[in-house]
Amino acid sequence: HKLLLINGVNLNLLGKREPDIYGHMTLADIESALTERAAAHGIELICIQSNHEGKLVDDIQHYGLLAEASVQVDAIIINPAAFTHTSVAIRDALLATQKPFIEVHLSNVHARESFREHSYLCDVAVGVICGLGHLGYHMALDYWLTHTYAITL
Ligand code: DQA
Repeated sequence: HKLLLINGVNLNLLGKREPDIYGHMTLADIESALTERAAAHGIELICIQSNHEGKLVDDIQHYGLLAEASVQVDAIIINPAAFTHTSVAIRDALLATQKPFIEVHLSNVHARESFREHSYLCDVAVGVICGLGHLGYHMALDYWLTHTYAITL
């Protein structure tokens, strides 16, 4: 049982980057908390981050479609960061996998610049969580634990 957590461009800077907007936790803090919670339920969480759109496309293709079945993930949690607002390529890669995904944003993208309101992913996501900081990732994990694996939390 595997889930994929994808973080996009600039999210390697979490903790240092505009902490008033994105919080004080580092990406490593967030990834380890989620990995531990998933592992406690027997689920492996694969965590990837890249500042490069093509690298994310390669990883989505790999874990969603190209790897042998035992390496493929069941579902995806993705914060594409700025790629949310620009990337048809990431949308197409996610669609190619036919794996369900939840879109997460730390900040409330609807309360900021208007260009952040448009997402290339939201209409094909199972759900979208924004504005709840790092807890949004936990809520997405909870959703997959309960819905994909029928785990009672
Ligand atoms: C973000 C929101 C995006 O608009 C922004 O480009 C990010 C992070 C968020 O988590 O709030 O880099 O996805």
